[in-house]
Amino acid sequence: MYRFRRLRRDERVRAMMQETRLHPKDFIYPIFVIEGEKIRHPVESMPGVFQYSIDCLDEILEQVKAADIGGIMLFGIPQYKDSQGSQAYAQDGITQRAVRFIREKYPEIYIVVDVCLCEYTSHGHCGMVCGEEILNDETLPYLVKMAVSLAEAGADMVAPSDMMDGRVAAIREGLDRAGFTQVPIMAYSAKFASAYYGPFRDAAHSAPGFGDRKSYQMDCANGQEALREIRADIEEGADLVMVKPALAYLDVLKEAALTFAMPLAVYNVSGEYAMVKAAAANGWIDERRIVLENLTAMKRAGAKIIITYHALDAVRWLR
Ligand code: PBG
Ligand code: ZN
Repeated sequence: MYRFRRLRRDERVRAMMQETRLHPKDFIYPIFVIEGEKIRHPVESMPGVFQYSIDCLDEILEQVKAADIGGIMLFGIPQYKDSQGSQAYAQDGITQRAVRFIREKYPEIYIVVDVCLCEYTSHGHCGMVCGEEILNDETLPYLVKMAVSLAEAGADMVAPSDMMDGRVAAIREGLDRAGFTQVPIMAYSAKFASAYYGPFRDAAHSAPGFGDRKSYQMDCANGQEALREIRADIEEGADLVMVKPALAYLDVLKEAALTFAMPLAVYNVSGEYAMVKAAAANGWIDERRIVLENLTAMKRAGAKIIITYHALDAVRWLR
């Protein structure tokens, strides 16, 4: 009989034997920026998460700075929406202005920006629409314009989340042509059409006005297709590839880690966060232990970067 328990005997030896360790730099913290002034509006389905107007961002940015995490992921919520999502790539769009503000005042914070049209389109879809159809190739130039305008504003990294085919190649070419050869692309490569995005769509005002996202996001049943999506994005020039959501897709993440020698990101999404917060609020689980267990599992499965609303809490608990 081999005695596994010899290396579990006390805290000192357990600490030494730990294979996976979380670090503040593992985390990217999503922030919602809304048009207007003096707004710090709680997102009801995501306790602890707020929409901030630019003038109210300091509070959260100071926390991010103190936590010394890897970076932030910005989502803009414009006042004005139209069928082409023109505020997504407007020079003075809410997201561009937020990036400029943060870049200027917090040069130490690494800014990733989500590149997608759904927060900006009147129909709430991630691409151009014709009738009930979500157009692919017609959408690409708009995504390129958005990515370039955010790089111009000072974004460190862009993260296309739209799931149109060919967008990574198009964005890479557009960034390079505009002189942003050094801006990396984190591709939402295996992004599943998931019920776990529900709370986010309240937070970002981005629910589709008709139909669903199943003609562009992936079927949760498909693991092989996820690997093909990831391979395609790598070939198109992605610098990092992402699996999203996290917990129900750790098999996909693990398989990607074993298949590709690439930095992997995982997105611990709004619905995953909401479930933990709801159970914790009821006293049914130990929030701290559950969160650290979940995040450790994501890293153990192969994530280099974890995008999570728990980031600031996790850093406090790790210290
Ligand atoms: C925009 C986008 C979504 C999320 C990240 N970027 C929503 C969606 O695709 O409907 C989800 C994030 C979350 O649920 O926390 N395309
Ligand atoms: Zn979208």
